[in-house]
Amino acid sequence: MCESKTIWWDGGLWLIDQTCLPGELLPLRIKSVRQLIEAIKTLRVRGAPALGAAGAYGVALAAELSRASNAQEMTIELEIAADMIKASRPTAINLSWGVDRAMRAAALQETAEEIREAALREAEGIAEEDIRINKLIGKNGAKLLDDGDHVLTHCNAGRLACVGWGTALGVIRSAVAAGKQIHVYACETRPLHQGSRLTAWELAHDEIPVTLICDDMSGSLMRKGKIDKVIVGADRITRDAVFNKIGTYSHAVLAKYHKVPFYVAAPLSTFDRLHEEEDIVVEERDAEEICTLAGVRLAPQGIEVYNPAFDATPLELVSGLITEKGVFRPPLMPMV
Ligand code: MRU
Repeated sequence: MCESKTIWWDGGLWLIDQTCLPGELLPLRIKSVRQLIEAIKTLRVRGAPALGAAGAYGVALAAELSRASNAQEMTIELEIAADMIKASRPTAINLSWGVDRAMRAAALQETAEEIREAALREAEGIAEEDIRINKLIGKNGAKLLDDGDHVLTHCNAGRLACVGWGTALGVIRSAVAAGKQIHVYACETRPLHQGSRLTAWELAHDEIPVTLICDDMSGSLMRKGKIDKVIVGADRITRDAVFNKIGTYSHAVLAKYHKVPFYVAAPLSTFDRLHEEEDIVVEERDAEEICTLAGVRLAPQGIEVYNPAFDATPLELVSGLITEKGVFRPPLMPMV
């Protein structure tokens, strides 16, 4: 077991079941591709970079479980598994990026055994790379934070959303590690509460001062001058917009109005230079997520519900894109 990572391989695939937090930090053994897909859909594993690793490990798992005796049979099985994993959540580009990387590594092999080894090697490489890249993002982003800053974040772009360290929270962690006093306002992030369940838990665990707020309190705090910067993660960055957890756009508009810098921290693997906002499918989730809370009904039966998981923030609202290659101020974008 390896609790310092969100997802890892130890004789099989393991992940931290994020639906059990903040109550319990529970490792979950994933024994089939079907179970992995269920874990992705129900957000047991979530967050763009963690999904990238999950996608690649999913291919490795499919190869491990396959009884195919030659590379051709194995490839057919892996292609079916790869398509199913990619379709489980459409918006975060890292999921299909991770699957495709493992599939490309597999495609270069000549035997079934070589495919098994190559897919796992690639997945392990992605997982190791993720932590290294997040530390670079942290280093680059920490320079943007001043001692004493109050930073607002939305959803969870922390170590739980990655293999380790985090993107937006990685920047905060790096600033704190460099000796700066940083206080975080964590938005609870309706409807699934990644902010209160995960971000508040992570920061409290690391003893980084954090205040939990409802999503609709950010404007009032900015108006009172209580927020110095906003930092969020990203699920996909197209040529014109940042896709991130629903609610991000509202914070960005408010930040622009109140002249608060709005930063996005993400690895290059989250960039999608081939598409624009209008091309992207935004995942819509079950109505029950809004109509119930911890099993208690909050809305009339049968009420019409709109529940998109993500929104798009146009790049003109973004003060800087913090990546492992440095900070890019739109319209400047990294080469990927
Ligand atoms: O639906 P989720 O919880 O997977 O959404 C995650 C987010 O929107 C995160 O902010 C994003 O993936 C950045 S994670 C480093």
